[in-house]
Amino acid sequence: MDKIKIIGGNPLFGKVYISGAKNTALPIICASLLTDEPVTLYNLPILSDITSLNLLLKQIGTQIEGRQEELNGHITQTFTYCTAKPTSLIAPYDYVRKMRASYYVLGPLLTKYRHVELSLPGGCAIGARPMDIHLNSLEQMGASIEIKNGYVVADIKDRLKGAHIVFHSASVGATCNILMAATLAEGDTIIENAAKEPEIADLINLLRKMGADIEGINTSTLTIHGVDKLHGVEHEIINDRIEAGSYAVAAAITHGCVELVNANPEYLQCPMDILQKTGVSVKKTENGLIIDAQNTKLQGIDIYTDYYPGFPTDLQAQFMALMCVADGAAMVTESIWENRFMHVPELIRMGANINVHGHASAIVRGVPKLSGAPVMSTDLRASFALILAGLAAEGETIVNRVYHLDRGYERLEEKFKLIGANIERIKESD
Ligand code: UD1
Repeated sequence: MDKIKIIGGNPLFGKVYISGAKNTALPIICASLLTDEPVTLYNLPILSDITSLNLLLKQIGTQIEGRQEELNGHITQTFTYCTAKPTSLIAPYDYVRKMRASYYVLGPLLTKYRHVELSLPGGCAIGARPMDIHLNSLEQMGASIEIKNGYVVADIKDRLKGAHIVFHSASVGATCNILMAATLAEGDTIIENAAKEPEIADLINLLRKMGADIEGINTSTLTIHGVDKLHGVEHEIINDRIEAGSYAVAAAITHGCVELVNANPEYLQCPMDILQKTGVSVKKTENGLIIDAQNTKLQGIDIYTDYYPGFPTDLQAQFMALMCVADGAAMVTESIWENRFMHVPELIRMGANINVHGHASAIVRGVPKLSGAPVMSTDLRASFALILAGLAAEGETIVNRVYHLDRGYERLEEKFKLIGANIERIKESD
């Protein structure tokens, strides 16, 4: 397995181009299954999660054509998806095991083709990750659902029926799945306590362009008036707020100054407010943000993760790395996932002073310096936090198991090298 080697201590300066949002691309690619016409998606990130999902769609029978282009020194990726006639309505274990978001085929295949078999994704490092909201909601819409041999087997006789559904948690995944399913249902569906993440708004914009009738964008109550048919479309994916937030911390932790080109400040309000409270300057530009931490004495600030527009759980590990080298104490509270402090023992190996209380809280007491060490990635965002700690540390850090990073951070070493980081990938065969 590849590793990443970092020699810490370089302040980072320059520009980072923010890529298309992974967590928007995944449901939107699956939304292409709702029509037999071509759906062309621009600004798709170049990530192994996109490759994995494309492989799943190919085995369902989707024709996929793609290209990569250079635009202002930044590489972008476009794919056209066309599912004129599916050859399989099964999402097998081997695909879902590699990429949980494969579950986004559930809503579209069921509502359009009336049958789907989806391997249950199971838990993962950050928590149990149940699917009860997805499945109960589809049952409320008239689907019959069975769990057989590790698979969800879902059927409907005729069309799904509109229903009034109240989610017990504002789940991003369930909101996307039920939204997609409801577009082709008979009658009206109301989703209460829907997620309001920007990724949902982008999916709604795509679905509307395809002919869906949806009200309530950016609110927690969505009303979907079912239509008979959706059509092909061209759509540009929004940029990745989590990638932008991650590089913002890289500028801060190295006391550098980095422009995040194409970052959307609107999506980053809460984490950028926290960053400013640590003493870092955050300025909007014409097409992004400038993060300036030169001569900044970092101050520890408490963090509480929450549903959007609250502080994103997907930036918790990166901000915790920052608090490790800030003055004073910071309480980090994780309210979304029950097991999202796996980066803590690794940060402690690098000299951080962190005490975890139960599953949900950690007290971070800042230390003057971290020191490089061999560390182990456990999940995507935790891996980036270890890279950040390595960039700030004295000496050499080796991050093992970097396949996690390849799932969610496009051309990571390249982007870091361009802003002056001493970072390289050690290939398995080296
Ligand atoms: C998505 C993101 C992930 C992010 C998370 C929360 C993708 C591919 N992944 O994950 O990076 O950390 O949102 O912002 O977009 N829940 C249930 N029952 C369900 C579904 C969820 O109880 O049926 C609970 C979960 O256990 C969790 C909370 O709801 O506590 C949020 O989960 P959810 O928003 O569904 O996360 P994902 O969509 O899987």
